[in-house]
Amino acid sequence: MRRKVTVVGAGNVGANCALRVAEKDLADVVLVDVVEGVPQGKALDLLQSGPVQGYDVLITGANDYEPTAGSDIVVITAGFPRKPGMSRDDLLLANYDIVKTATAQAAKYSPNAILIVVTNPLDAMCWAAMQVSKFPRNRVVGMAGVLDTARFRTFIARELDVSVENVTAMVLGGHGDTMVPLVRLTSVSGIPLTELLDAATIERLVERTRNGGAEIVKYLKTGSAYYAPSAAAVEMVESILKDKKKVLPCAAYLDGEYGVRGVFAGVPVKLGAGGVEKIYELKLTAEEQEQFRKSVGAVEELVGVLKQKAGA
Ligand code: NAI
Ligand code: 2OP
Repeated sequence: MRRKVTVVGAGNVGANCALRVAEKDLADVVLVDVVEGVPQGKALDLLQSGPVQGYDVLITGANDYEPTAGSDIVVITAGFPRKPGMSRDDLLLANYDIVKTATAQAAKYSPNAILIVVTNPLDAMCWAAMQVSKFPRNRVVGMAGVLDTARFRTFIARELDVSVENVTAMVLGGHGDTMVPLVRLTSVSGIPLTELLDAATIERLVERTRNGGAEIVKYLKTGSAYYAPSAAAVEMVESILKDKKKVLPCAAYLDGEYGVRGVFAGVPVKLGAGGVEKIYELKLTAEEQEQFRKSVGAVEELVGVLKQKAGA
């Protein structure tokens, strides 16, 4: 049976998600955007890459949600990206309205889909998507940890001049400056990172990871990163569609796990056909626990603003 992925937002992240889903031959793709002609034009362009790249998936563009009906996965990338000097949190209210509309429409036409939220500020937008869709928590998940971890892995691999494939890492917490890269659980082919690099170097790489998004915004000036973000989102799409059950750091709704209730935050999850099939609760050290709490506190603050706005 053909699988179907809807990508809402045909901008930088969305169009690259569509491209990556197609190049991996994972599913038919429907690109949706509010701007007339853009999703249609990009979809047609992507479709015409098929003969060269060797994929047969169908890619269509639309300004409404009817063509998205029956999607297995909906990736929500619609919304404003940040510009230099802005934090992800500055996008809160503008993107809330966009994510609410997109989620309501997508959920109406694909009531059994799994939602992967990408729009920033990520953890708060996941909360909004869950509120609006009323989907169970296993079917709403946010992309951030895979990207943050990929950045950390890249910096470590470059520092040590080793393959990125050998570096495993885990970044927890909210997708913001307070994210928590877990150095203790970072290794290179099983060798603890702390045996390979001194503390000052590790701290420098951790800081660069925390500011990884801003570093790219500073270069681009008109928007934010999209190649690595789309790769990260599509790793999640693939794990779900193929029921690979990858263990990945993703934003999941916490209902008591890690002592947190009622918000999304980055934690290790098992991603399979059922969406978030399991949340792994790590035993954190006192210092990690404190950092995690601080990071979740930042998310709770944003969700508090949304709750006020929603009158919830
Ligand atoms: P972009 O500006 O290139 O694309 C956004 C698209 O959303 C535009 O095409 C716009 O027309 C569309 N859009 C706006 N309102 C819409 C609506 N109501 N329905 C459908 N489409 C709508 O921005 P880009 O770079 O693609 O980023 C998108 C979002 O993803 C931003 O909020 C950005 O901060 C976030 N992001 C999150 C990451 C993460 O790690 N979670 C990583 C990278 C980006
Ligand atoms: C990033 O980390 C913009 O959140 C996005 O690049």
